[in-house]
Amino acid sequence: MEYKLRKAEPKDVPDILRLVKELAKYEEMEHQVALTEKDLLEDGFGETPFYHCIIAEIQGESSSEDPKVGGFAMYYFTYDPWVGKQLYLEEFYVMNEYRGLGMGSEILRHLSDLAMKTRCTGMMFVVAENNAPSMQFYKRRGAEDLSQEEGWRLFRFDKDSLLKMATPAEE
Ligand code: ACO
Repeated sequence: MEYKLRKAEPKDVPDILRLVKELAKYEEMEHQVALTEKDLLEDGFGETPFYHCIIAEIQGESSSEDPKVGGFAMYYFTYDPWVGKQLYLEEFYVMNEYRGLGMGSEILRHLSDLAMKTRCTGMMFVVAENNAPSMQFYKRRGAEDLSQEEGWRLFRFDKDSLLKMATPAEE
């Protein structure tokens, strides 16, 4: 099977949303995906991109067959005041039929090259507690479980909480 990794383009937005939904379904949280193609287009391909994506594109068996997007990683850069630039891996997914063929490792290699080039000191990500296979996948490659080893806990203010704290809108 031949595939290539490339940066996502605006035309990939429908495939990105399809894979985001597949991963959410895999994690049994599909109902929480509220984002639309319009959001993804505006947020990833405007003047200030809020995310970046690497796409794994599988070549068709014959030259007349269109290539298919079979996996992707969504990432952005964050900053840690103790150690500096970090790559944040937000989403990582390879379609079931293409798993175990090295595509995921190749995507991680690509992101590691990018992290080295941009002088990041680490790559952060969150894994659902019930996603044991992917935790093992990361651990086999040297990832540390910070919740277990350092006791960090993940928090969020949802939009209602933000609205309560924000300056009230003028009448
Ligand atoms: N399915 C999955 N893994 C398999 C399979 C299979 N059918 N067959 C073998 N494997 C083994 C491989 O031997 C390999 O083992 P290794 O870790 O010892 O090298 C490993 O599982 C898979 O390696 P790759 O082929 O390089 O990776 P793959 O292309 O399968 O992609 C990924 C890895 C992205 C984790 C993929 O399995 C996946 O999409 N899983 C479901 C979604 C998921 O859990 N994503 C991560 C969520 S966490 C986050 O997004 C930050």
